[in-house]
Amino acid sequence: MRLKDKVAIITAAGSGMGREGAILFAREGAKVAVVDIDPKGGEETVKTITENGGEAFFKQLDVTDLPNLKKLIEDTFNKYGRLDIIWNHAGIPGAGGFGTISEKEFDEAMDINTKSAFFGAQYFAETIKETSKGGSIIFTSSVSGVRGSPMSQLYSTCKGALGTLARSLAKLLGKYNIRVNVIAPGIAETPMRFQFLTRTPQDNYDDNLNMLLKQVALGKLVDPKDVAYAALFFASDESAFITGVTLPVDGGYVA
Ligand SMILES: NC(=O)c1ccc[n+]([C@@H]2O[C@H](COP(=O)([O-])OP(=O)(O)OC[C@H]3O[C@@H](n4cnc5c(N)ncnc54)[C@H](O)[C@@H]3O)[C@@H](O)[C@H]2O)c1
Repeated sequence: MRLKDKVAIITAAGSGMGREGAILFAREGAKVAVVDIDPKGGEETVKTITENGGEAFFKQLDVTDLPNLKKLIEDTFNKYGRLDIIWNHAGIPGAGGFGTISEKEFDEAMDINTKSAFFGAQYFAETIKETSKGGSIIFTSSVSGVRGSPMSQLYSTCKGALGTLARSLAKLLGKYNIRVNVIAPGIAETPMRFQFLTRTPQDNYDDNLNMLLKQVALGKLVDPKDVAYAALFFASDESAFITGVTLPVDGGYVA
């Protein structure tokens, strides 16, 4: 029960790594707000949690809808009388093909990958900072936000910003015992990897996958559970003195 009595919000928890995280957090004693734009996936996550004796509720939300993101954070705090963790996990691969990327595509990627995470952190901190209980903010970046990624120019721009945001907020919010950390997954075994590897007509899925896997020391895709366990560590008091760090969960890709 590494998260006993804690309350957590996880965005994009209707699939992939967010879903694994929600199930794991609940198993470790947290009450979990499962947030996703997709009701089918979100409800499925909640069903799995409750069938296993955990506590969770689903909130359908597009994370770019900032007034409702703020409301969800405040409502979750009011529902349970506390709020300890927000894992800003939602993101999209965004357009590829530097040279032809439109302003609309740029704004869409920034809105989901960066702006929603920035405001999610801001609303969370404003909601809990005077409670003296502290809290944990987690961002999902990517190995493409840590090292140069010729396939992911726009995505790298969005995700790279989360590292500097986390370091800045770690300095700012330390006085409230609010910690801010980043997970940078490598290419993971979730539906999103198909979008990553076939962004442009020139992309070939198998060629791109092989090219990336050759650079992974442990030689395989990231299991969503690997990322869920990293998030659990940042969410729990086991990482009580760790803030402002970016942790690659990538089998040695960025090494
Ligand atoms: N899959 C990878 O290879 C990989 C690698 C590095 C980082 N990431 C990052 O991990 C996060 C999610 O990836 P995953 O692989 O777990 O995804 P996934 O494809 O398994 O699930 C993504 C979920 O996000 C939800 N979603 C999409 N847009 C949303 C929005 N605007 N508001 C709320 N929910 C929304 C979808 O409905 C879906 O349930 C993203 O931030 C992504 O950039 C993924």
